[in-house]
Amino acid sequence: MAQQRQLSSKEIFALEDQYGCRNYAPLPVALSRGEGIFVWDVENKKYFDFLSAYSAVNQGHCHPRIVKALKEQADKLTLVSRAFYSDQLGNYEKFMTELFGYDRLLPMNTGVEGGESACKIARKWGYDVKKIPKDQAKIIFAEGNFWGRTLSAVSSSSDPTCYNGFGPYMPCFELIPYNNIPALEKALQDPNVAAFMVEPIQGEAGVIIPDDGYLRKVRELCTKYNVLWIADEVQTGLGRTGKLLAVQHEGVKPDMLILGKALSGGVLPVSAVLANNNVMNVITPGTHGSTYGGNPLACAVATEAIKVLLDEKLAENASKLCSVFREELEKIPKSKLVTIRGRGLMFAIDVHDSINAYDVCHRLKAAGLLAKTTHGQTIRLAPPLVITEEQLREGARIIQKVFESYDK
Ligand SMILES: Cc1ncc(COP(=O)(O)O)c(C=O)c1O
Repeated sequence: MAQQRQLSSKEIFALEDQYGCRNYAPLPVALSRGEGIFVWDVENKKYFDFLSAYSAVNQGHCHPRIVKALKEQADKLTLVSRAFYSDQLGNYEKFMTELFGYDRLLPMNTGVEGGESACKIARKWGYDVKKIPKDQAKIIFAEGNFWGRTLSAVSSSSDPTCYNGFGPYMPCFELIPYNNIPALEKALQDPNVAAFMVEPIQGEAGVIIPDDGYLRKVRELCTKYNVLWIADEVQTGLGRTGKLLAVQHEGVKPDMLILGKALSGGVLPVSAVLANNNVMNVITPGTHGSTYGGNPLACAVATEAIKVLLDEKLAENASKLCSVFREELEKIPKSKLVTIRGRGLMFAIDVHDSINAYDVCHRLKAAGLLAKTTHGQTIRLAPPLVITEEQLREGARIIQKVFESYDK
């Protein structure tokens, strides 16, 4: 069979523009290869990846161990559905529950399905265990949250672009300000509240880090008012903030933990909800499921992806490089950057009003580094956790030079 001609970047942009749903506005770069912290476009230009597919590629692009696990499992068995057992799922569940200290794991695929499943479990727990009257169970969310694009996820959003035009919305979802303990305590006093779902650091909102002690207080209040605490660690989890889980910075344990993204190292959509028996056992056969959830391929890939994180001490690397990255970003003059914030290798910079953040991303791309704005003037910077100190300084120098180019 004749080999297909490699399309140019421009041809690729035109194809997506003509035939795809226009639900994204990507930077104009068409990638065809990735290895570690680098990606290459179809014209073979090399880039530092400082987005890591929204922190899904913590282990670096095409990690050889994860790809090997994928190939080996793909040759044997990929999908059985949950109508039957596979030789992979039980081992994966045992490995994950022992590692994270929960009784049970619910396997799903995307991050938003993890969030959706956690909300569903929380409602059922609300009725079966907390004895909330039928159809009255409430779930509290924090303003600025982002957990995906389903109707439930957008129903809890305070971002007009996510929310407007998609009603009617899920009832009994309530919003309170993030990082606000008095507001949380007031909300939790309502006996119909089943759960509080929150990100330990808000990623899409622009890497918003709550005050020290916030998560400890969340734990304390949820226990006091018999409300489930659901931690959405889809973006913060798995080493990104310098610990395996971001909640570990405060030594606290949520009632439900949602994982996704880096759970597969960017190879497949794999997500999970972890909880103890008192919560997870409200789900019984027939009440929840997913054709692909827990498929053998996902189990083999996720197990290897987690082992890579642990063996290569990627959380430790993120923790160690945090101060290096901050030090480098602080070299950018204050006249150009309003704020720098981050934990581990999850950073955001707020660009001064005199400079357009989207334009900065274009210039970064031209200079060989890929990053993306989150909201308006905020740019998220989150390289794969396999990055070395030297590579991080080199990437940071590209960022410094781009800001300097505004003086010329
Ligand atoms: C904190 C958080 N939760 C959930 C999601 C949704 O994940 P997915 O896009 O895999 O559905 C995201 C995606 O960015 C996220 O950042």
